[in-house]
Amino acid sequence: MAFNLKGRSLLTLKEYTPQEIRYLLDIAKQVKAERKAGIVHQRFVGKTIALIFEKRSTRTRCAFETAFGEEGGHPVFLSTDDIQLGAKESIEDTARVLGRMFDAIEFRGFKQETVEILAKYAGVPVYNGLTDEYHPTQVLADLMTIEEEFGSLKGRKLVFVGDGRNNMANTLAIGCAKMGMHYVINSPKELWPSESFIKEIKDMAAENGGTFELTSVPGEGLEGADAIYTDVWASMGEEAKAEEREKLLRPYQVNEEMMKKTGRDDTIFLHCLPAVKGQEVTFEVIEGKQSRVWDQAENRKHTIKAVLIATLL
Ligand code: CP
Ligand code: NVA
Repeated sequence: MAFNLKGRSLLTLKEYTPQEIRYLLDIAKQVKAERKAGIVHQRFVGKTIALIFEKRSTRTRCAFETAFGEEGGHPVFLSTDDIQLGAKESIEDTARVLGRMFDAIEFRGFKQETVEILAKYAGVPVYNGLTDEYHPTQVLADLMTIEEEFGSLKGRKLVFVGDGRNNMANTLAIGCAKMGMHYVINSPKELWPSESFIKEIKDMAAENGGTFELTSVPGEGLEGADAIYTDVWASMGEEAKAEEREKLLRPYQVNEEMMKKTGRDDTIFLHCLPAVKGQEVTFEVIEGKQSRVWDQAENRKHTIKAVLIATLL
């Protein structure tokens, strides 16, 4: 079924219904197949997108640039070292100026509030390319990767092991809840999300036939998991916490012993990347036969292209 998402922003993924997410994943599947078949489209000819980055990026930047550029669009990379965003010029004013010149804006940075303000004032779709709180374009790629592996999402179980309150843990909670999946966070209590977020996600999951549970015992709750997911112990902007996190999270490293706790040998390992091998995941697991991290990285491009097609055309 087709939905009209033209003009919509993507800020957290909460604002998309399960049917709309389904629609985006279907477009992503189609554009991936087209690319594999060598079919070239020029869907973004005459369009421009501003890509604002306060934090570094390999995958997100390259996915946006290649997805937009190869379809004839013109992406413009703007590092916050170069533009006046919240420095000499307010975010509202920057949003209004960029909105007059570009067809869309992507923002990666620290505060979720910044991307929300951009969306409020730009008058064009704004996409969250990662903030301290959420990383929605990543989760679309993660859902696509799980579905490619198992053929479905509903009822699938995903366990996130590690920093249970970072942008990935949060946004996976939303994605799983929307798609009726079973989501478990295995993380020390100090790193659990807020009570209000837990309640919000439990309600969202229940509405769609999914569940959300948390456990602080390392390796608990993994049995039967379709996917084990982890992420860095200290996210961008948290470099000062690296030592404290290392102490807290060492028992939660995803290693072969941890993978065996699922009781399955077809559980897949996922990681948004970049990974610190030897910390949150061992070399053996990320390079092993259950790892799907490179498919996941590739799917960033197809899912981002899907979002652009759905919201700009
Ligand atoms: N996964 C992800 O967002 O990667 P980058 O930080 O390289 O964009
Ligand atoms: N949690 C990580 C994700 C990187 C894609 C970070 O914010 O640095």
